[in-house]
Amino acid sequence: MAKTPTGKNTSGRGQRDLTVKVKTARGRTLSSTRWLQRQLNDPYVKRAQIEGYRGRAAFKIMELDDKYRFLVPGARVVDLGCAPGGWAQVAVPRVNALGEKSGKAIGRIIGVDLQEVEPLAGAEFHQLDFMDEGADDQVKDWLGGKADVVMSDMAASSSGHKQTDHLRIMSLCEAAAYFAFDVLEDGGTFVAKVLAGGAEGELQKLLKQKFKAVANVKPPSSRADSSEKFVVATGFRG
Ligand SMILES: C[S@@+](CC[C@H](N)C(=O)[O-])C[C@H]1O[C@@H](n2cnc3c(N)ncnc32)[C@H](O)[C@@H]1O
Repeated sequence: MAKTPTGKNTSGRGQRDLTVKVKTARGRTLSSTRWLQRQLNDPYVKRAQIEGYRGRAAFKIMELDDKYRFLVPGARVVDLGCAPGGWAQVAVPRVNALGEKSGKAIGRIIGVDLQEVEPLAGAEFHQLDFMDEGADDQVKDWLGGKADVVMSDMAASSSGHKQTDHLRIMSLCEAAAYFAFDVLEDGGTFVAKVLAGGAEGELQKLLKQKFKAVANVKPPSSRADSSEKFVVATGFRG
C-alpha cells in the first residue's frame, strides 16, 4: 500500500482515489501535462509546500544527512547549484548557521548558482559558475578558509537524449569533485547527484582514491523512475 512521507496510507479499500488528473489543454504538450500531473500528485511536493521548503529536493539532502550526519553544528558548507535554496534551508538549522543552538559551534553556508537566488537567513548566495577560472579561490575567500562539506545537486539542462544527459551530468559531477578536492578540509565530505547509466565508474574510482569511504545512495524522496542517485564520499584525504 502506498504511503506518504509522513507514513499515512494514500490508497486502500474504501478510500477515494485522490489522484489529481490533468486534462491536456491547447498549447500544453503531452510531456508538460504528464509533468503537471506528477507534480500535483507527488507527496513530497505537497509536503514541501506545507513545510515551507523551496522545493522537494530539500527532502533528499535531509534523508542523506539523517543517514550520514555531515551537516553538524559548526560545519562550513559549500552548496553548488543551490537555486532555489531548498538544500540550504535544510542546512541552516543543522549547521547552526544562525547560532540558535546555544553552546554549539556556528556553521556557515556559501551557495553558488548560475541563477540569482532569493536570500535566506543564515546562508550566503552568490551568482557564479563554479567552473569559472578562480571560482575555488573565490569560494574559499567567501568562506574564510576551507570547507567541511561540498554538496552538489547540479543538473545540466536536459537535452532529451538520455546518453547525452548522462554524460553532461557526469562531467558536471567530475568537475564538482575536482572543485571539492581544492576546497575541502582534511576529513571533509563530498555529496553529489549523479545519474546511473555507464560513465559513473570513473568518478567512483577517482573518489575512492581521495576519500576513506564512498557510498551510493538512492534516498526515498528521489523518484523511483529517475536514474538519479547520490554519492556520499566521507573522510577526504587532502
Ligand atoms: C536541481 S537544481 C538545485 C536545487 C537545489 N539543491 C535546491 O534544493 O533548491 C540544479 C541547479 O544547478 C545549477 N547549475 C548547473 N550548472 C551550474 C554551474 N556550472 N555553476 C553553478 N550552478 C550550476 C542550475 O542553475 C540549477 O539551479
